Amino acid sequence: MVPKGMVDHLLLLIGALLVMNTQFHCEGNDKVDVTILESAVSKGAVCLDGSPPAYQYAKGFGDGAKNWMVYLEGGGWCDSKSDCLKRANEALGSSKKITPNYFGGILSQSRTTNLDFYNWNRVMVRYCDGSSFTGDVEEIDQETNLHRRGARVFNAIVEDLLAKGMKNASNVMLVGNSAGGLATILNCDHFRALVPSASKLKCIADSGFFIRAKDLPGAEERESYYARVVEFHNITRFLPKSCTSKMDPGLCFFPENLVGDIQTPLFLLNSAFDKFQITYKLKPHPADEPQWQNCIQNIGVCSPGQLQIIRDFRTAFLETLQDIGNCSSRGMFINSCYIHDFLWSTARWNGNGSPRLGNKTIAQAIGDWYFERSFVQEIDTKNDYPLNCTDS
Ligand SMILES: *[C@@H]1O[C@H](CO)[C@@H](O)[C@H](O)[C@H]1NC(C)=O
Ligand SMILES: *[C@@H]1O[C@H](CO)[C@@H](O)[C@H](O)[C@H]1NC(C)=O
Ligand SMILES: *[C@@H]1O[C@H](CO)[C@@H](O)[C@H](O)[C@H]1NC(C)=O
Ligand SMILES: *[C@@H]1O[C@H](CO)[C@@H](O)[C@H](O)[C@H]1NC(C)=O
Ligand SMILES: *[C@@H]1O[C@H](CO)[C@@H](O)[C@H](O)[C@H]1NC(C)=O
Repeated sequence: MVPKGMVDHLLLLIGALLVMNTQFHCEGNDKVDVTILESAVSKGAVCLDGSPPAYQYAKGFGDGAKNWMVYLEGGGWCDSKSDCLKRANEALGSSKKITPNYFGGILSQSRTTNLDFYNWNRVMVRYCDGSSFTGDVEEIDQETNLHRRGARVFNAIVEDLLAKGMKNASNVMLVGNSAGGLATILNCDHFRALVPSASKLKCIADSGFFIRAKDLPGAEERESYYARVVEFHNITRFLPKSCTSKMDPGLCFFPENLVGDIQTPLFLLNSAFDKFQITYKLKPHPADEPQWQNCIQNIGVCSPGQLQIIRDFRTAFLETLQDIGNCSSRGMFINSCYIHDFLWSTARWNGNGSPRLGNKTIAQAIGDWYFERSFVQEIDTKNDYPLNCTDS
């Protein structure tokens, strides 16, 4: 005889399971709750404002149940106390301010959108440290409570995911866009070491290939900016010795100076006309500023001289890629869209907004590379004008 209370309890449980089941199988339901990782606080793994770090987790199902995708959110960096304090009051610096991000593109659980990965365990790690998940300063600012602990945040979250099942994963992937793409490059081998039992583990950096372009306008600012980020967040010891033994640590924040040493298979997805880099990192002579603003907002009105600077950026980008050397496990999809960030947008990932190279959308290219269905090193060497890749 089963007590009535227990029957109710069981019915509730079955009901909950049914709800979960529909939730995980319903196409287009890409809302995923935020998990606040309170237990990280005791490890000193916290956001800029000292709040616990956070992630969004969509559980894998079907034949994806043992596969894990860890996605690192992007959002620039902060390079000083005042700059980081501003972020400490926003979602990019405090889990208190976080609202759920939509799971589109490579994170989507729609089979049509995301055939290769839709049923994986998909985790979006929220970015709240301003250092591409690499900072580690013991000292807490007494006056403002500012914390600089990006590397600890990464470790604490990975540790938690390992316990949630990633420890037994077969296929694993570290992914990220923009500052999260750079974080993916910087953390790739480290992540491999944290998940040693995975049978396949690869990294995919979207729009994270920020170039130094030392002969183009703004080089000094690009260099000094990363030098300040590295200094402020105590990143030097995080960076590979193979790089820091050769040059200033600040320069080792430019992927071109370290991807050659990465052992784990890495995919670089980027536009050679990266809109963020052209807009914010490529500054011609200040006297030209207002016209330059018009030009970067609407390529059609650029003067021939301005367009030349933008073309020079592409040339420098492609040359930089050449210089990092080749390796057969590296994947590449270097397109010419005037766009920054591709992976989280469903249209750019696999829809009309996706550039095609070798007749493949980004989703097809990355799926083929990950599962080794084909060799993928696609570089658009033809278009020397930024393409208008619209999302519809
Ligand atoms: C800088 O980071 C290293 C670990 O990478 C740590 O051992 C050292 O204590 C940190 N320095 C400060 C000043 O926090
Ligand atoms: C990993 O698999 C082992 C053996 O099947 C199991 O005992 C353990 O609970 C699993 N660990 C996780 C974190 O799922
Ligand atoms: C890109 O194409 C869309 C749709 O055709 C158009 O609305 C937009 O103005 C174009 N942008 C540029 C910069 O040409
Ligand atoms: C890299 O090497 C492979 C052969 O190992 C070659 O097919 C490919 O074109 C090379 N890629 C680049 C970007 O040079
Ligand atoms: C390009 O891909 C589409 C669909 O994936 C296919 O129908 C078409 O035949 C391909 N074209 C070429 C030239 O391979």
